[in-house]
Amino acid sequence: MSAVDGHEIAVVDLTLAHLRPLMRIDALVYPQPWSRRLWKAELGRDNRIYLAAVAGGQLVGYAGALLMIDDAHVTTVVTAPEQQRRGIAALLMVELAERAIAAGATALTLEVRVSNEGAQALYRRFGLAPVGVRRGYYEPGNEDALVMWAHDIDSADYRSRLDAIGADLASRAGVGT
Ligand SMILES: CC(C)(COP(=O)(O)OP(=O)(O)OC[C@H]1O[C@@H](n2cnc3c(N)ncnc32)[C@H](O)[C@@H]1OP(=O)(O)O)[C@@H](O)C(=O)NCCC(=O)NCCS
Repeated sequence: MSAVDGHEIAVVDLTLAHLRPLMRIDALVYPQPWSRRLWKAELGRDNRIYLAAVAGGQLVGYAGALLMIDDAHVTTVVTAPEQQRRGIAALLMVELAERAIAAGATALTLEVRVSNEGAQALYRRFGLAPVGVRRGYYEPGNEDALVMWAHDIDSADYRSRLDAIGADLASRAGVGT
């Protein structure tokens, strides 16, 4: 388990109670953050996984995925700017992958800005490899999206990968204390 400023980070279901701090963070990291109405609708939909990372009662990150038959499409992963590089997104991704596998998914996929090298490095740790580019996918700016996939996430090999990341995060417990 990682820690932020002495507080253990808990990964829990994202609920309406998290929306106010979530939208504050969203506005800092995304040029076109989702509206409250869209978030509320999303949280009420089936086939979604939405997770919150909470430390000391504060929202420090969140992540989401859309389940489509065998694939879990990761739609968002965010860590509050002042809490980055402390393992929060990795912790969220471990739980997202666990939940996706438990729901029957065999692959993870996502789009990420070609310029977002930090996020790409995070995703590579989770076995996601680039398979193509969607031209002009992101507005504003028409930036290209890199499409990444990890297959066979229900395999023993992938289980070992998640366990290794979990062990690394556990060994870093106390970071920020
Ligand atoms: C991308 C993002 C979610 C990473 O969150 P984070 O909590 O800082 O990530 P972690 O601390 O869990 O990083 C885990 C690993 O990912 C990689 N990584 C994460 N951020 C990185 C960066 N800026 N540069 C290089 N590698 C990075 C590293 O391998 C890191 O391990 P290390 O710190 O031991 O080197 C965060 O920077 C963010 O919220 N960005 C804005 C929103 C966004 O772009 N989301 C992704 C697109 S949907």
